[in-house]
Amino acid sequence: MSNNSAKNLFIYGSLICFIALIVLTIDTMGTLDKRAPEITEKVDAGKKVWHKYDCIGCHTIFGNGSYFAPDMTKATERKPKGYLKKFLLDPRTIKPDAAMPRLGMSEEEADDLLAFLDWTSKVDTNNWPPKPVLAVATAGRGSGQGQMLFQKHDCAACHQIQGLGGTAGPDLTNVGNRRPDIDWHIRHLKDPSSVVSGSAMPAFANLTDEELKALAEYLTTLK
Ligand code: HEC
Ligand code: HEC
Repeated sequence: MSNNSAKNLFIYGSLICFIALIVLTIDTMGTLDKRAPEITEKVDAGKKVWHKYDCIGCHTIFGNGSYFAPDMTKATERKPKGYLKKFLLDPRTIKPDAAMPRLGMSEEEADDLLAFLDWTSKVDTNNWPPKPVLAVATAGRGSGQGQMLFQKHDCAACHQIQGLGGTAGPDLTNVGNRRPDIDWHIRHLKDPSSVVSGSAMPAFANLTDEELKALAEYLTTLK
């Protein structure tokens, strides 16, 4: 390559990279404010509660904070708000050995916090943080309708089967031994607090009778 063509390659190469940078920057700036929903007064109040109780001393959010407790960026995406509110007010009513302390917040503070966590959950973070792969692995085994419903409704977000899944609810590995009654499961799925008083499990009332039966049958086979 002659000196001259090396010089041209350098000049035009730099120019093309520079133009690409400008175009991509403009493109990003144009979509930036569409990536987060509107900040309401409740969201703002919730962020103040978040600081008041130093949640970030244990949890991460948007990549900041401590690694003692689960990430909160997408909290309301994975768990229903009714469950989260109960947990915030008193973690041990849900998880007897919870490491999160009872912070003593009011109902209103919990509602504000959930508005804030709902806002962060809706911010487009390019799928960050990645979802745990464990839940998928649990549900991947077997192919019956009940098992597919278990996967579809993300029960593994709260329940473990043979070591895989979340820990918000009881381990279901041997639930069929403890709870052999199909009707009990159907009632529990439709309205958990009708059979377990004060249950924090969300109701799955929108399942059809046939789906409830399939799911309940699957649960009684876990032993
Ligand atoms: C002393 C550390 C600590 C503080 C402070 C703390 N947490 Fe937690 N939190 C935890 C731990 C640990 C867990 C995991 C469950 C468990 O074992 O308690 C958790 C779980 C949670 C969960 C349930 C997650 C799930 O998927 O079930 C929510 C929601 C939550 N924290 C929100 C908050 C908010 C909001 C604050 C501030 C108001 C806060 N936490 C303050 C330690 C803490
Ligand atoms: C947001 C968390 C959460 C989700 C999602 C969830 N559960 Fe639960 N589950 C709980 C909690 C908390 C309990 C304990 C209270 C109770 O028994 O109702 C529980 C209890 C149970 C029990 C009783 C276990 C026992 O030992 O008595 C069964 C069975 C069960 N869940 C099945 C399911 C199925 C099936 C799904 C999906 C369709 C599901 N759960 C989704 C939180 C959850």
